[in-house]
Amino acid sequence: MKRAIMPGTFDPITEGHLDVIRRAAQIFDEVIVAVAQSPHKEPLFTHEERAELARQATESIPNVTVEPFSGLLVEFAKEVEASVVVKGLRAITDFEYEFQMTALNYELANDIETLFIMSPPKFMYLSSSIVREIARLDGDVSQFVSPCVEAALAQKFGLSRARG
Ligand code: COA
Repeated sequence: MKRAIMPGTFDPITEGHLDVIRRAAQIFDEVIVAVAQSPHKEPLFTHEERAELARQATESIPNVTVEPFSGLLVEFAKEVEASVVVKGLRAITDFEYEFQMTALNYELANDIETLFIMSPPKFMYLSSSIVREIARLDGDVSQFVSPCVEAALAQKFGLSRARG
């Protein structure tokens, strides 16, 4: 039984994240989407809202579950008995930061491996902050996020654009 966690702030979860989650779910028996509290990022959505949106966006993937966490990632990985951390790698600019986090996590717990899954070109420049910015300006985010996230963004910004 190989269990992996896919951590992030997911403010909100995007199609780029979902692409990585789906691919991880093909490799591992179980994938836990670990939604970090990330108070330093001052997220738009609350911790519980981000976890709930991630739950709704991943509900069709049978071996994926969603758990909010606070504290150290490696401690959470141990708590849920996951031996692998999966991260998406988009552009080369991600590398330096991811390299640093992976090295630090390895110092903290060298029995937990980090595995990178490369994003396809269409998601290379996608990020949660870009999605928030487009939605804030009443732009169409439907190609970047699930319908539940699109509706939540519209509600957050008090706009009328929502699918269906
Ligand atoms: N597709 C689209 N966007 C992606 C993506 C993908 N595959 N992968 C990452 N992104 C985006 C994210 O949405 C985020 O966008 P934003 O900055 O516009 O909001 C950005 O890229 C950064 O993502 P990521 O590197 O995953 O950072 P994060 O803030 O979402 O999550 C944690 C970072 C939670 C993994 C990290 O802070 C952590 O482990 N925290 C726990 C505390 C801890 O252990 N700290 C010590 C670590 S050494």
